[in-house]
Amino acid sequence: MVSAVQEVTFRPRGDAVRLMESRDDEILLEGPVGTGKSYALIWKSHLVALKYPNVKILWVRKTLVSLTASVVATYTDKVLSTARYGIDYYGGSRIESPAFRYPTGSRIMLGGMDKASKIMSTEYDLICVFEGTELTLDDHERLVTRLRNGAMPYQQLLVDCNPGPPTHWLNQRASTDGMLRLYSRYPDNPRLWDEATQSWTEEGYNYVVVKLGKLTGVRKLRLVDGKWAAAEGQIYESFDPEHHLLDETQLKAIGILNEDGTLNRTVVRDVIVGVDWGFTNPGVLSVFAVDGDGRMYLVYEVYMTRKTIDWWIDQARIIKRRFNPSVFLCDPSEPGYIEQFKGAGLPAEKAENDIKLGIDAVLTRLDPEDDSRPRLYLSRDALAAIDEDLKEAGKPWCTAQEFLSYVWPTATGANGTLGEKPVDENNHGLDALRYGVAHFDLRRYMEFV
Ligand SMILES: Nc1ncnc2c1ncn2[C@@H]1O[C@H](COP(=O)(O)OP(=O)(O)OP(=O)(O)O)[C@@H](O)[C@H]1O
Ligand SMILES: [Mg+2]
Repeated sequence: MVSAVQEVTFRPRGDAVRLMESRDDEILLEGPVGTGKSYALIWKSHLVALKYPNVKILWVRKTLVSLTASVVATYTDKVLSTARYGIDYYGGSRIESPAFRYPTGSRIMLGGMDKASKIMSTEYDLICVFEGTELTLDDHERLVTRLRNGAMPYQQLLVDCNPGPPTHWLNQRASTDGMLRLYSRYPDNPRLWDEATQSWTEEGYNYVVVKLGKLTGVRKLRLVDGKWAAAEGQIYESFDPEHHLLDETQLKAIGILNEDGTLNRTVVRDVIVGVDWGFTNPGVLSVFAVDGDGRMYLVYEVYMTRKTIDWWIDQARIIKRRFNPSVFLCDPSEPGYIEQFKGAGLPAEKAENDIKLGIDAVLTRLDPEDDSRPRLYLSRDALAAIDEDLKEAGKPWCTAQEFLSYVWPTATGANGTLGEKPVDENNHGLDALRYGVAHFDLRRYMEFV
């Protein structure tokens, strides 16, 4: 029989070694994409669960869906695939989190801050937060209070992330004595960097130099250089994930969704769809639910590259059946596609495409109203499926991510002129969104000018 030790395929390097050894209360492991941050947290959890009996480990992200798609997928593909270690999977219940159960009696439990009550009813020895910048400081502090199970010699909270804006609470916390900051770098990942020759592996060269080398601006600074950097010239500066993104529980609480997750049509008065065409660049279909006060909620989006018009028609038909929208507001640059949508029985129209007025209208909606609520929200669970190519290339793969990287040109920017027209990048979901907003906020007004 092959022992678990021989099966270990984890070779920690750099600060990942410190992460394995350290018993500090709180540790942040930060760095560019694909350097092995999550892998290090996964392996520390796995080894802890093999070593100590009856340990409770929590893996958590902002939403459970995103945890499953990223971290759990890596764990099952890369760690469990070679040997099962006698681990079984328990799917969870209404009150209990899903979990991987080890023969030692230890458990790795899975949670999302969107279903926080399930997580908060248990105490843990080790908590791993993936993509910690997605959480609020309040989320983080609530997790800290759950660390006291006492089944191993120390309790610990590990967080991984790509850097965000310098002002982010996580960056500030890691600058205090309360949290140890560790750095993950490309040479730490043996798949990407060959230690013997001190050069990129073929995969590393293709991924980091070729693919990620195409990134520019703040995304390059954060995702490739690993720096906490502010977006210069960000167009939707007032966009704040904490205020403008809602999870399923919140959408249910304000009545947009029914308990079963469908749209609550007594509150939702209208549904419209914004359409941005794309092939090499992503195409986007964005479904907005509109309530009686005219507030808009992005509840569903298809965001994909390399799909033909026939595929988009199929997606639009699925949306029509599921949400029954009154109109599809389409990027006017492809009249032929609009005709094909119409031919397929979809209520398609040319969208209003005045960029400046449209951006102003979106900005107005992002501002809080008298009741302190903005007039535009995005669901955290809106995305139908992740485009893995975009994700791997470090590009935005949903509308919420575009907000940070849609910018005005700077003096050194794309066309050298300041503030004339936005840089024509990272605006696919945002264009679909602008078409939706323009439908309500500009259309009537445009008729008079
Ligand atoms: N020390 C290591 N030993 C072996 N393989 C590794 C190691 N570090 C990383 N890898 C490989 O690299 C892949 C990517 O690593 P991981 O998902 O941890 O990156 P990440 O830093 O969390 O990226 P992101 O910022 O995108 O979340 C892993 O799935 C694994 O196959
Ligand atoms: Mg990761």
